[in-house]
Amino acid sequence: GKGGYDHYMLKEIYEQPTALRQTIRGRSNQLDGRVELEELPPGAFSDVRSVHLVAMGTSYHAAMYAQTLLAERGITAQAFLSGEYGSNPPPADDGTLVIAVSQSGETADTLSAIRSVQGTGAHTLALTNVVGSTLTRECEDTVYIRAGPEIGVAATKSFSAQVATLILLSERLSRDVRGGTPAATGDLLDALSVLPDDVQRVLDESTAESVAKAYHDSESYFFIGRGIGHPVALEGALKFKEITYDHAEGFSAAELKHGPLALVTDQTPVFAVFTGRNDTKTLHNVKEVRARDAPVVAVAADGYREVDDYADHVLRVPDTHHDVAGILANVQLQLVSYLAADELSRPIDKPRNLAKSVTVE
Ligand code: F6R
Repeated sequence: GKGGYDHYMLKEIYEQPTALRQTIRGRSNQLDGRVELEELPPGAFSDVRSVHLVAMGTSYHAAMYAQTLLAERGITAQAFLSGEYGSNPPPADDGTLVIAVSQSGETADTLSAIRSVQGTGAHTLALTNVVGSTLTRECEDTVYIRAGPEIGVAATKSFSAQVATLILLSERLSRDVRGGTPAATGDLLDALSVLPDDVQRVLDESTAESVAKAYHDSESYFFIGRGIGHPVALEGALKFKEITYDHAEGFSAAELKHGPLALVTDQTPVFAVFTGRNDTKTLHNVKEVRARDAPVVAVAADGYREVDDYADHVLRVPDTHHDVAGILANVQLQLVSYLAADELSRPIDKPRNLAKSVTVE
């Protein structure tokens, strides 16, 4: 059941601290900096020269996030929509690791992307929530995100658990591929270990309700961010459109001047995601939309005060390592979408035209 919550989506948003504890448990050792994914023996990735991530929807946003994490670690990685990958396959060989990211493990597009690399020598890895799902049978290896069952059509806790797992996987890959322990590791493992508590703090202290009340009747919403903030902006917009039925569009803050700015008016709230990297550039974009009188909602770390003078609302997240900051920002945006859809009395757990798993191409 819904455990006292009005909707599964809200229950699953609130389950995130527990889900993340399960995701992380036993997988990183802060004392010696080791990262262990039980399914994968040490050195499993030593022949990997490049990584393809294939996924759809929310899982694709987690894949984009991982592309940035891997690039930071010097690993050539690219996220693909699995529905495109199978029909226009990029070169893959025995140095390619293809990671299929799918909550359900049953998404037809993602299964066919994996089938398209059979025979190329590429190594395939499933990253999924559902034990024994079709994807786990089609891929050579599986890493579970361990989020627990997700019932709401709008994916929430699975995104957080996917990203946390992909952070661990990126660390494992960078050690196997490049050897040694990157300098950032200690800080990162510390940040991951307190992530469940940080998410709890976001849930306890969020002011998303006032944002949802102020803006739920606008016609159109924009979400911007850079780096890992870009997939978080895309995910914020996807969630918002899925459950409020209002138009919401996410893009890189870098794209703003190249077209979308034409649509920005005092009627288009802009959500700006700050993650602790290139924040000054994103702040510049915020100033540009402010100059067009757009309401601005910033999602920013407690310590990032520069934004206060330029935003109508700031949704705060605890200061943390850059690589996990996007998970916290996304939780704020989940709450905004949920609360706005609730203001509009939408059928949040069963949005029109959508299914929990899309088993046809
Ligand atoms: C978004 C959503 C969908 C799924 C997509 C992939 O809230 O639920 O966009 O993320 O259909 O599904 P999985 O992860 O099961 O492959």
